[in-house]
Amino acid sequence: MSTLVKFKIDGVECMAETGTYIVEAARENGIYIPTLCNIRGVKPRGSCRICTVLVNGRPMTSCTTPITDGMEIENNTAEINDIRKAIVEVLFVEGNHFCPSCEKSGNCELQALGYRFKMMVPRFPYNFPKREIDASNPKIIKDHNRCILCKRCIRAIKTDDGKTVFAFKKRGLHLEINVDPEMGDKFTDEMAVKASEICPVGAILLREKGYQIPIGKRKYDHVEIGSDIEKIKI
Ligand code: SF4
Ligand code: FES
Repeated sequence: MSTLVKFKIDGVECMAETGTYIVEAARENGIYIPTLCNIRGVKPRGSCRICTVLVNGRPMTSCTTPITDGMEIENNTAEINDIRKAIVEVLFVEGNHFCPSCEKSGNCELQALGYRFKMMVPRFPYNFPKREIDASNPKIIKDHNRCILCKRCIRAIKTDDGKTVFAFKKRGLHLEINVDPEMGDKFTDEMAVKASEICPVGAILLREKGYQIPIGKRKYDHVEIGSDIEKIKI
C-alpha cells in the first residue's frame, strides 16, 4: 500500500509517495532539479553533485535522498544555482570540451546545463589534460577528453544476465572508461546505441553515424534543459 507524504520545495506544498527520491518527487510535482549522473530507473550513485539541494538547511544530493514527511527543501535559489554553475564550470575545465566540433553538440546535457546556468568564462583555470581518443572498438569511439566519469554507461549497459559491459580502467587522474575486454564479444549493436544515448556528453559515439541530425535541429537547440518543467533564478 502506498503512503503519500507532504513536503515543501521552495515553500511550495508538494506530495509524493514516501521513499521516492527527492529529484523524482520534485519532477512529479512539476519542479526541475538538474541532474547529470542520474538516470531514471537506475539505482542512483550521487557522483556529480549537481542535484544538490538544501534539506532542512543541510546540503544533500536529491537523487539519492528519499523524501520524508514534512521535509523543507530549498532548490531554486541563487546560492544553490551558483553552486551548480560552479560544478558545470569545473567539469568544463577538467576535460577538453570543444562544443562546436563535438558530434553531441545540441544533444549534450553538460553543454545544455552550461547554457541554462549562463556559463561564460569559467571561474577556474583550464587544465587542458592530454587524453586519448580511442577508436579501437569496432562499434564505438571513446573520447576520454569529454568523459565526466558519471558512470551512467557502467550502471545502465548490462548483459541479459546482469553483467556490466563498461568498466573503469587506470586510477586517479588517469581514470577512464573502457569496454571490459572480457565482455567485448557480448557488446551488441543495441548496447552500443544505448551507450551513445545514455552518455550525457560526447564521450561515447557510434562509429560511422556522425551528424545524422544536423546541428540546429537537435534536442537542446530548441528547448532549454529542464524548461519542460520549470524555470530557474540566476
Ligand atoms: S563515457 Fe559517458 S556515460 Fe560513461 S562515464 Fe563517461 S561521461 Fe559518463
Ligand atoms: S544527479 Fe545527483 S549527484 Fe549526480
